[in-house]
This record gives sequence, C-alpha cells and structure tokens, in this order.
Amino acid sequence: MQLENKVAFITGGGSGLGLATAKTFIAEGAKVMIFDFNPKSQEVADEIGAKFVQGDVSKAESVEAAVAKTVEEFGSLHIAVASAGVGGEGDVVTSTVENWERTNGIDYSGVFYTNKYVIEQLLKQGDGGVVVNLASMFGLVAVSNNIAYSASKGGVVNMTRAAGTMYAKEGIRVNAVAPGVIRTPLIDEPTLEQYANLHPAGRVGEAQEVADLITFLASDKAKFITGAIIPIDGGYTAV
Ligand SMILES: NC(=O)c1ccc[n+]([C@@H]2O[C@H](COP(=O)([O-])OP(=O)(O)OC[C@H]3O[C@@H](n4cnc5c(N)ncnc54)[C@H](O)[C@@H]3O)[C@@H](O)[C@H]2O)c1
Repeated sequence: MQLENKVAFITGGGSGLGLATAKTFIAEGAKVMIFDFNPKSQEVADEIGAKFVQGDVSKAESVEAAVAKTVEEFGSLHIAVASAGVGGEGDVVTSTVENWERTNGIDYSGVFYTNKYVIEQLLKQGDGGVVVNLASMFGLVAVSNNIAYSASKGGVVNMTRAAGTMYAKEGIRVNAVAPGVIRTPLIDEPTLEQYANLHPAGRVGEAQEVADLITFLASDKAKFITGAIIPIDGGYTAV
C-alpha cells in the first residue's frame, strides 16, 4: 500500500485518466474525492468507493469550494491530481475565440486554480504534499492544428516547474506527466488509429499505464522529484 491513509483530490476523476488514477489510488489505500463537471460521476464514485463533488474547474470559486469540501469530508488533504480537461480544436486561424477561451479556461486556468487552492491548504497543514498535473506530449512539442490545446499544455509544463520549486523546502512536490495518445473517452477511434504508429512503441497507451506513473509520483518513492515533466508517450517526443 503506497498511499495508505492519504487523502487525494482528483479533478476530472469521473472518466479516463482521472478515473484510472482514482481506482489505483483507492487500491493503494487512499481516500479519494472526485471533482468533475459531469454529474454522472456520482455513480462512478459510488461504484469505486470514492466521494464526489460536482463543479467546474474553469471557475476559481468552484475549485476553492471543492478543495474546502474535501478537507471537511476527510479532515485533511495530501495529494491532488489535475486531470480535468477537454480536447480543443482548430489551428491559429481556424480556432474561434470561444474555443480558445473554453480550452484554456479548463486545461490551463483550471490547472492553476487546482494548484493554487490545494497548495494553500497544504501550506496551512504544514506537512508537505503532492500535486500531479496532466500536461501532454503536446505541451512538449506542438500539434499544429490545435492551437489552444498546445498552448494550454505548454503552459501547464512551465506552471509545474514554477509551482514545484516554490515550496519544495516545505515538502510540497509538483510534477507533471506528459502522455502521448492514450485510449480514453477523450480520443476518438480514427485518432487512436492515426497515432498508433506515430509512437515509436507502435501503439497508443493505456490509461492504467498513466495511472501507475501518477501513483508513483504521488508516493513517497518519488520524494526527491519535483518540478519535473515526465513523458509517457511510447517515445514520441524522444525522436
Ligand atoms: N487521453 C489522452 O490521449 C491524453 C493525452 C495527454 C494528455 N491528456 C490529458 O489528460 C487529462 C484527462 O484526459 P482523459 O483522456 O482522461 O479525458 P476524459 O474526457 O476521459 O476525462 C476528462 C474528465 O474531465 C472532466 N471535465 C471536463 N471539463 C471539466 C470542467 N470544466 N470541470 C471539471 N471537470 C471537467 C470530464 O467530465 C471528464 O470526466 C486531460 O487534461 C487531457 O488533456 C490526455
């Protein structure tokens, strides 16, 4: 049990990578609060033995209230995973302003609000803690036909470095994982097929593989790792 008696707050925990992480955390002994926009996540949470709070990660007050509810429910907070996200669409010309604002509101500002309110709470508790942000391989290299996603994930990369070094002496670690294309409800079948051979590994990734990396980063085994961006992309960004 790598996370015995730890309390974890997981945004976007109702689906995909957040859900795989929630299940793995619970198997490792953690108590989990799922925060998600989709009210159906209540059923998912009940099924896996997590608690659920509904909200919108792109609204600062919603994230602040959800962090407070997690502490009220469990008494403290030790780990956060910022996995709420949307795909975005359109290149620098074809992206609408609405798409730009929505994608960055969720994938970029939402990660900031999560880090801000969680780290405020960790500092109050005075006993360290861990945040893992979901960046993407498209935060390390661009995807030309998706400007908002590329920009927001690039922002998450450097946000993680800044947040992960500011309170390192207080024992607060912030890292990001940068996945390649992973089989989740976010990715449609043609995209999975298109990307399988673009990864040097010759396939797309599985949610459990990302959940296992996040679990390692959240555990004490990773206690000297902070401000790091770890690719998990079958080699995509290595060549
Ligand atoms: N699947 C991939 O290939 C892949 C690759 C790299 C990075 N990522 C990143 O991983 C994260 C999770 O992606 P996923 O593949 O699990 O997607 P997913 O669609 O399966 O899950 C995302 C979850 O976020 C929730 N969400 C969306 N908007 C929200 C909002 N405003 N407030 C709160 N919750 C909201 C959704 O309801 C959903 O439950 C995202 O940040 C994504 O960009 C995914």
